[in-house]
Amino acid sequence: MGAGIAQVCATAGYLTRVGDVDSAALGRGRASVEKSLGKLVEKGKLAPADRDAALARLSFTTDLAALADADLVLEAVTEDLALKNVLWAELDGLCPPGTIFASNTSSIPISAMAAATRRSDRFVGLHFFNPVPLMPLVEVVRPAAASAETFERSLAFARSLGKETVVAKDAPGFLVNLLLVPYLLDAVRAVEHGVGTVADIDTAMRLGCGYPMGPFTLLDVVGIDTVVRISAIMFAEYRDPRYEAPPLLHRMVAQGRYGRKSGKGFYDYSVDPRAPVER
Ligand code: 3HC
Repeated sequence: MGAGIAQVCATAGYLTRVGDVDSAALGRGRASVEKSLGKLVEKGKLAPADRDAALARLSFTTDLAALADADLVLEAVTEDLALKNVLWAELDGLCPPGTIFASNTSSIPISAMAAATRRSDRFVGLHFFNPVPLMPLVEVVRPAAASAETFERSLAFARSLGKETVVAKDAPGFLVNLLLVPYLLDAVRAVEHGVGTVADIDTAMRLGCGYPMGPFTLLDVVGIDTVVRISAIMFAEYRDPRYEAPPLLHRMVAQGRYGRKSGKGFYDYSVDPRAPVER
C-alpha cells in the first residue's frame, strides 16, 4: 500500500520521499507507481504532464534520516506492532517536534504506537484502501491524546489528496475492517463447510448484492497474510470468534499463497483467465 499512498501524495502535489529498509522493495514500489500512473494516463484520467510532474516529486531512499525534514510521516509497515514501534522510536528522535506521525495500520491501535514516541498529541491514523489510487476513502483515526490541531491538519491533508474522509475512534478495525473482516472470514468458513465454491460465492456477492468484487477476489487483493495478521489483532482485542481466521487461511499462508502479490491465492493468476485454486 505504501507505493499507492506515495503515488496519491505525489499526484496531489506533495514532495514525497519513500523510505524502506530494502532497496529491492523500493524498486518494486517505483515500478508499481509507474505502472499505475501509466494506466491512469491510458484511461484519460491523468494528463501525461501531470504523470511526469508526479514522478518528479517522488524520491526513494533506504536512509531513514532522509525523512527527518518531513511535515508528515505516513507509515505502511507490515502489521507488526513491535516492528512499527522500532521505526517510530527512531523517527521520533530524527524528526522535529512539529512533524505529524500517521499510520496506515488497518487494525493496530494508534495509541499503542504513539506510546513509543514523545508526541502522542501529534499522532493519528490515516487508513487507506486497496487499490489506493482508485479507492476514494481515507479513515482518519483520532486517538484521545491527539490534539485538535493535529486532527484538523490530518483531516485537511487526507482531503487534499482528493479522498473522502470518515472519522473513527481508535478501536481495532476502525469502521471499515470492523465490518469487512467478519464478512471475508465468513466467506472462507462457507467454503470450508462446502456451502459453495469460491467462484460461485464471488459471483453471488457481485451479482446478488452489487459488490464490485466478490470476497475471494478481494481477499486476494488485500493479501491472505495481511488478513490473517489483521484478524489476529482484532481477535486478541475483541475475543469474538467472528474475527478468528479459519484454518484454511493459515494453510494458505504456510503454502505462500498470499493472493495477487504472490501470483496465487484463492485464484491462480499465472493463467489467463485466472482459475480458482483447488483446495
Ligand atoms: N492504479 C491504476 N489503475 C488500476 C490500479 C491502480 N493501482 N489497480 C487497478 N487498476 C485498473 C485495472 O488494471 C483495471 O484496468 P483495465 O480496465 O484496463 O483492466 C481498472 O483499474 C479496474 O477497472 P475494472 O473495470 O476492473 O473495475 P472498476 O473500475 O469498476 O473498479 C475497483 C475497480 C475500484 C478496484 C473496484 O473493483 C472496487 O471497488 N473493488 C473493491 C475494492 C475494495 O473493497 N477495497 C477495500 C479493500 S479493504 C482494505 O484495503 C483495507 C485494508 O486495511 C485491509
